[in-house]
Amino acid sequence: MWVRIRCILLVVYWTSWLTMLAGAITLVLVTPKCSVADPLEWWQISPIYQVYPLSYQDSSHPPDGVGDIPGIESRLDYIKDLGVGAIWLSPIYKSPMKDSGYDIQDFRDIAPVFGTMDDFHSLSKAVHKRGIKLVLDFVPNHSSNLHEWFQKSVKREVPYADYYIWADAKGFGTEATPIPPNNWRSVFGGSAWEWNQERRQFYLHQFLKEQPDLNYRNPLVLEEMKNVMQFWLDQGVDGFRLDAVAHLFEDEDLRDEMVKDEDATDEYSQLDHKYTFNLPEVLDVLREFRIVLDKNSENATKIMMTEAYMPVEKLMAYYGNKSHPIAHFPLNFALISASQKNITAQSIYTAVSTWMNNLPKGAWPNWVIGNHDNSRAATRFGAELVDAINMIALLLPGTPVTYNGEEIGMEDADVSWEQTKDTAGINAGPKKYKQFSRDPERTPMQWDAGINAGFSNANQTWLPVNTNYKTLNVESQLNEKWSHIKVYKQLTEARKTEAIMNGGLDIHILEDSVLVYTRVREGFPGYVVVVNFAPDTVTVDITNLAHMPNESSVYTFSTTYAHSFTAKKRISNSAVVLPGKGGLVLTFVPDFPKEVISL
Ligand code: NOJ
Repeated sequence: MWVRIRCILLVVYWTSWLTMLAGAITLVLVTPKCSVADPLEWWQISPIYQVYPLSYQDSSHPPDGVGDIPGIESRLDYIKDLGVGAIWLSPIYKSPMKDSGYDIQDFRDIAPVFGTMDDFHSLSKAVHKRGIKLVLDFVPNHSSNLHEWFQKSVKREVPYADYYIWADAKGFGTEATPIPPNNWRSVFGGSAWEWNQERRQFYLHQFLKEQPDLNYRNPLVLEEMKNVMQFWLDQGVDGFRLDAVAHLFEDEDLRDEMVKDEDATDEYSQLDHKYTFNLPEVLDVLREFRIVLDKNSENATKIMMTEAYMPVEKLMAYYGNKSHPIAHFPLNFALISASQKNITAQSIYTAVSTWMNNLPKGAWPNWVIGNHDNSRAATRFGAELVDAINMIALLLPGTPVTYNGEEIGMEDADVSWEQTKDTAGINAGPKKYKQFSRDPERTPMQWDAGINAGFSNANQTWLPVNTNYKTLNVESQLNEKWSHIKVYKQLTEARKTEAIMNGGLDIHILEDSVLVYTRVREGFPGYVVVVNFAPDTVTVDITNLAHMPNESSVYTFSTTYAHSFTAKKRISNSAVVLPGKGGLVLTFVPDFPKEVISL
């Protein structure tokens, strides 16, 4: 019944819309074939916004130059206003911060630098009051070496002795130097094994030596981590981003890995990680975590997004299947990978279509353009393409995941060797740190042109503020007539429409350098995203796209196009003139055969 009423209302809406467009009085009622899709869930509708707590907002008294939980709470109205539906918080747990919080000393406690458990509860309440969801980072692969479990494991205390992956030395070299059990390497370089003099064994660490890997072949470990997950669900969180999941298991026989590319610049990429990455057992453990989430989903779905960098065809297994679902979605880094090399309409087309073509039936897509581990989108794609990339990510089918600062086009900052905080950079040394450090994409959020960009009143911030903050900041963009943030907000607004939520996708390349895709659902206004990757003006004819009428109206456009377009302007679809490097979103009345009812 409700569907029928919605359809009738739509007919009336459409009739008036068409009337306006035609500039004439329409004397017939057109009946679009109208079906309303099942309502989408919270995690499918609006973007998920990643907040990097160290760099979001310092609210300490006196200020300490580091972001904190009350600081995030003080910015919630801003977040709400962006039109995002959920916040994913990078780790806020107690940690010695060797890996910026991904080395957890107590999975059930908050790092004092971020605040207290009361602060967390206050944040959670304030987030939920605004109708936003709260997703936490969950780090199942490793703990900090300062975690009580590891300390007890070193001492072989029951039941912790096998909570981590311990192995005897292969032998002893000169001066009784212990030789690691095999050639496995850490993601951050060097051997993945660290000798523990007290236990007289090596332990495995796929990341830093201060991040020993937990042993998921021990059922007690899985139970412990499921209990941790339940603990945070009991605090009211709405789901988790699961860190580094492909590293959960290693070969039991500790076989050496083959060299696949001796010349790769980072040591880790030189080996083929057949015995340490993406083992089949990983999915069984993730399935167990999913069951915990589903048990807690009576009122609203608790989501699982998994983090693993691997070819799309392999990654799709992380969705599981209908009877055994795993992740709600494995985070999709295809647009990040595509932007590491030469960026063209073709490379972005391939990234999008490969993902969509491999997607299992019924699975929900997602799009990530940046995060705290990769150079900023504006730096990778180039500042001119910031809005265009947000257009692509926000209007494709699926959930966009936005890293804080990408809504204003923040760029990588120049962080000197002396200022470097990321251990991955520090370990590489002063000559090579720039190749490995992730500090440039982690610098403080740029709120305004005031002291430390409005992030902190401290004399010094934990990482330097990007020197471009006086011109590139939230406040100035909100005051400008046209800016990245204004485009971003228009895109989140467009996501509320049927075509974007439930419409089909039709994607093409035109004139070599233009990526174009439509989102159409019969009976609703359609959208077309047109992005020119070339530096020069290109004119395209989009009338051959399915359901495309002769004219559309401008919905939004890149800041680089601010002199060429105005919102709502009608343009001819047979000659859309696109200046170099930018994107345009048009809206149109899709052409479907219409049934005419005589009045
Ligand atoms: C992935 C996280 O995103 C990254 O920041 C961290 O260093 C590793 N996992 C290890 O936890």
